[in-house]
Amino acid sequence: MANQYFSRKPLAMLLEEAKGENRLRRVLGPVGLSSLGVGAIIGAGIFVSTGAIAKQTAGPALMLSYVAAGLVCIFAALCYAEFASMVPVAGSAYTYAYATLGELFAWIIGWDLVLEYAVGSAVVANGWSGYFQSVLGLLGVELPKALSGPALQYNATSTNLMHLEATGSIINLPAVCIVALVTTVLVVGIKESARFNATMVMVKLAAVLFVIGVGAFYVNTANWHPFAPYGFTGLSFFGTPVAGQVDAGGRPLGMLAGAALAFFAYIGFDSVSTHAEEAKNPQRDVPIGIVASLVICTILYIAVVAVLTGMVHYSQLDINAPVSEAFKQVGLPWAQGLIAAAGVAGITSVLLVMMLSQPRVLLAMARDGLVSPNFFGAIHEKFRTPYKSTILTGIFVGILAAFLPIDVLLELVNIGTLMAFVIVCAAVLIMRKKHPEAERPFRAPFVPLVPVLGIVTCSILMFSLPAYNWVRLAIWLGLGFLIYYFYGRRHSVMSRHLGHEIAAHGVSPGGQAVGDPDAPPDSPARPIDSQVDKK
Ligand code: ALA
Repeated sequence: MANQYFSRKPLAMLLEEAKGENRLRRVLGPVGLSSLGVGAIIGAGIFVSTGAIAKQTAGPALMLSYVAAGLVCIFAALCYAEFASMVPVAGSAYTYAYATLGELFAWIIGWDLVLEYAVGSAVVANGWSGYFQSVLGLLGVELPKALSGPALQYNATSTNLMHLEATGSIINLPAVCIVALVTTVLVVGIKESARFNATMVMVKLAAVLFVIGVGAFYVNTANWHPFAPYGFTGLSFFGTPVAGQVDAGGRPLGMLAGAALAFFAYIGFDSVSTHAEEAKNPQRDVPIGIVASLVICTILYIAVVAVLTGMVHYSQLDINAPVSEAFKQVGLPWAQGLIAAAGVAGITSVLLVMMLSQPRVLLAMARDGLVSPNFFGAIHEKFRTPYKSTILTGIFVGILAAFLPIDVLLELVNIGTLMAFVIVCAAVLIMRKKHPEAERPFRAPFVPLVPVLGIVTCSILMFSLPAYNWVRLAIWLGLGFLIYYFYGRRHSVMSRHLGHEIAAHGVSPGGQAVGDPDAPPDSPARPIDSQVDKK
């Protein structure tokens, strides 16, 4: 069985599959992909969580937190781009792990990506609700408390990771409604979704440029002092502080700790790679889409945070809608309305892309038999979308957003995504060593330096998150492993290949009886149906 855990999916098999039945439509070019990237990136992170992070964790040094988090993402993005150009099929990091590290790692990543996309969507829906209610407030409408927020919140002064307490609300109704709406749009189809997304992205970019351009005139440089009230570090090793301060609940504080939280604002660039199968020219356009969208957002974020912390002293920033509130605080209430409305549109586009990505990862896993192909692989006859898993994703996201608090979910998303990045960077190193000959239309520069820096810096950010996130991550992965053990392992298409090969030839694939074991997995010397790699 150990063979199966490490059996890898040959590149040729992945590419062959991309030509088969049940394919998604190829409708996206470089601008469409970059637009999906920006659509996925700029959202609740900058519009919502900036306020809380500046106030409670980093102060104005949050500017540097964004620089640090952006740099970490660039390393990972270059590795994603190399893989996306090699394996331009749906599934993102999951597919890359299957091609390099084997089935078990692929499963771990696929399961981990649920944290990034589905749980991340719940964070975004939560943020959306905050901005939406601030727009309603400007119109004089106030939702009843029972419908205005999640039912539970985390007690920040407690070190007990399960210590959730009632908020007094029953359900976050706006969050549930937006999730239902986005799910409906996604079921109807990618082309329509891309058009809707492009409009939202324009609105969002206009809002961000407005914040920077107009806000710059209201910057009071005195607000940047003290620049780093919580210090420049913030690192703990499983709960033991290594560098910098911690708060009452043992959470690291400082610029680096801020970067670990601000990282959420960058999540999304990798989702471009999940659309490789819908790209017209994936080898060229997917790397362009990933890198371009990340660079644009990094520059904008640093500018927004500099302006925001310059307009309002970090201690006075609002927690729910900090960017729009800052304009009210400097005496521009008309701008507050504009930004709040654009924030709602911008956050919607993030939700759209994240909820679009989740079913596509599940689709890739279904094709491999690791989750039910009948359910997660089902494509709607008319709309050509993975409608069943889109609806299931919507239900899952809706339930999380309805009841759980944004901070707990955000930290879990960050640690899970950082882990996925570490695995992708490692996979690039492994693939370069094992298959130097494979075609790489885009090559990450300075290998091994870039992937190694990606692994190290992502790990540092993981340790800058509060320690209980490791426990939550372990629980999540443990649950995933049980599902793999009892379902995926038994239904895996690769395991059936292994069984078939052994029955036919009396030896496992890669053994002497099956072609040339030293031939590269994508070599024509090895027929597709016998190309099951073995460590
Ligand atoms: N980066 C995305 C956001 O900030 C997830 O909303």
